[in-house]
Amino acid sequence: MNSMRHLMSPMDFTVQELEDLFDVANDIEHNMDKYSHACDGKILATCFYEPSTRTRLSFETAMLRLGGKTLGFADASNSSAAKGESVADTIRVISCFADICAMRHPKEGAPMVAASKSLIPVINAGDGGHQHPTQTLTDLLTIRSLHGSLGNFTIGLCGDLKFGRTVHSLINALTRYEGINFIFISPKELRVPDYITEMLDAKGISYREVIKLEDVISDLDFLYMTRVQKERFFNEEDYIRLKDFYILDKKKLDMAKETMQVLHPLPRVNEISVEVDDDPRAAYFKQVQYGLYVRMALILTLLDMTDAHINEGLLR
Ligand code: CP
Repeated sequence: MNSMRHLMSPMDFTVQELEDLFDVANDIEHNMDKYSHACDGKILATCFYEPSTRTRLSFETAMLRLGGKTLGFADASNSSAAKGESVADTIRVISCFADICAMRHPKEGAPMVAASKSLIPVINAGDGGHQHPTQTLTDLLTIRSLHGSLGNFTIGLCGDLKFGRTVHSLINALTRYEGINFIFISPKELRVPDYITEMLDAKGISYREVIKLEDVISDLDFLYMTRVQKERFFNEEDYIRLKDFYILDKKKLDMAKETMQVLHPLPRVNEISVEVDDDPRAAYFKQVQYGLYVRMALILTLLDMTDAHINEGLLR
């Protein structure tokens, strides 16, 4: 029996553990029915103090597809947080009701505080502008599935690289793989934070920073578009000035390789024109599907059920 594990950052798992997780996710992709009773009797709590569509619903779908049940709140104003209850107390209470909890919170580190007081595994489902580890697991699984491995490609990350937590988590996670060329594409006001570039410098990993997407799009194997994070701006004027800085349309996509894949954590606002959705290189809705598989695999892993349930025949 393993000791209880949480997921606060993608770096909480070794590269080998991530490979094992992605193998389970790919098995789920092809053999979903095999897992349909894996979590019979288990309960997932989703505690979302910030809005979400994909992350909350894919966690809930993941548990339902595994045969378990879900409870939780999608709006903290309807929970006792509105009366001043701390995250630490809330998780002690949730620990009495559920077997595992996914938590999103606007404050950096709040899921970590919850994990330190929790009697059940806690998954960081996004904490402020800090990390979004299950989006990173989704992104890594998508890249691995489309590219065949997690190495030897050029990725352009484009848009709000300052506030976009998915970008911070993904860059961090990709530094563990070989042969990745990073190109950061942003207006100067939304540059990737210094602590990320300092981390890359310290590891001897090279990167380029550019402003114009057109200057580099033909070099890319993956283009990771991001939304300008309105909710993290201090002033509306700056948001309005920057929100449409990048719009990926057919004309720009014509400059890219035929094999380039366009990723986006979603939700999108204007940064990818809907005309791009029908292009075979648009992979962002596939990415959502991979998010379900990887969250199913993660729930099994944190509940320490993987070995038993990928054991051929046990669930048939
Ligand atoms: N990608 C993502 O985190 O989407 P939601 O905010 O809808 O969960």
